[in-house]
Amino acid sequence: MQRILIIGASSLVGTQLSLRFRGNHSVIGTFDKHRPYIDGISLIKLPLRMDVDWAALLRLIKPETIFYCAAERDEKLCREQPIHALAVNAEIPASIAACAESLGIKLVYFSSSKVFSGEKGDYEEHDSVDPISHYGTSKVRAEELLGNYPGVFVLRLGTVYGLGPVPSRSLYQQRRDQVLSGAPLALVNDEWRSFQSADWVAEASEKLLASDPKLAGIYHLPSATKETQHGFTTLLSLSLSIPPAHVQPVSGEVFSHTHQGGEPRGRDCSMRGSLFQKTFRIHPQSTAKYLKELASRLNGGRF
Ligand SMILES: NC(=O)c1ccc[n+]([C@@H]2O[C@H](COP(=O)([O-])OP(=O)(O)OC[C@H]3O[C@@H](n4cnc5c(N)ncnc54)[C@H](OP(=O)(O)O)[C@@H]3O)[C@@H](O)[C@H]2O)c1
Repeated sequence: MQRILIIGASSLVGTQLSLRFRGNHSVIGTFDKHRPYIDGISLIKLPLRMDVDWAALLRLIKPETIFYCAAERDEKLCREQPIHALAVNAEIPASIAACAESLGIKLVYFSSSKVFSGEKGDYEEHDSVDPISHYGTSKVRAEELLGNYPGVFVLRLGTVYGLGPVPSRSLYQQRRDQVLSGAPLALVNDEWRSFQSADWVAEASEKLLASDPKLAGIYHLPSATKETQHGFTTLLSLSLSIPPAHVQPVSGEVFSHTHQGGEPRGRDCSMRGSLFQKTFRIHPQSTAKYLKELASRLNGGRF
């Protein structure tokens, strides 16, 4: 059993980590504006600011591992408030990393495929980063700062879907509502991403928790296939036994400067996760299988 601190337990990823870890570990989670209702974990309201005394807090909580799930992911906000985005996404986790290192605590940070422009696709860990959005730039800055602390494990995620406490931040919950409404839905079919179930992120994180604590550096989370928003939503529709006729394909060019808060979008930000698979020897299921599980979980009234 480990003592685990999840910073941002109210996030989509943090919620799924909390649910997975709570049976076997002692879990302390933080939130700010959205208190998650998760039995079996301790919760602390903790607005992330530059002046938090992390050394004192970590000495008090005494975690063995920290998962930093907090982030400013709103692309428009990242552009309009770059100092805030840099603080939450990069500088605060770097301050935590400094304290964690001196106290012998493992830190896991979630980065993003948006560190890449999407010009190439199928990115490997050794590919050079070349972000095109403010959010992506803040994640690159985080990776640079965290690179000063050799014990930090950085896991880059693609597009994560699943059930979280804030539906407006959950791609799955938004798309599911749209599909159930039956209204025509035009979705991009020529921009590729690694779609990853939050359950898979939690399973991989659990494997990481059980592994050699000295493992560190940057890894890509594998995904079974790459999908477009159109392809993903077609699978989602089928998982709900709804014929996907109203899910229409459109080119991403139609949406330029209207979606993603006007920030540029990459053509193919998909990532390969061969280093992760080689190290941890676990493989994701297909997107269709995860979506079927989510649909049956929701039918059974489970979160
Ligand atoms: N979701 C994706 O598709 C995706 C893709 C690639 C990488 N990632 C990375 O994976 C990690 C988890 O993402 P997610 O989608 O699960 O996050 P999310 O659902 O967008 O949640 C964001 C989290 O950050 C917290 N937060 C933001 N600003 C804060 C502040 N000033 N003070 C305290 N807490 C603050 C929020 O707390 P409150 O809500 O309580 O205020 C919430 O817990 C992030 O590092 C993200 O960059 C996510």
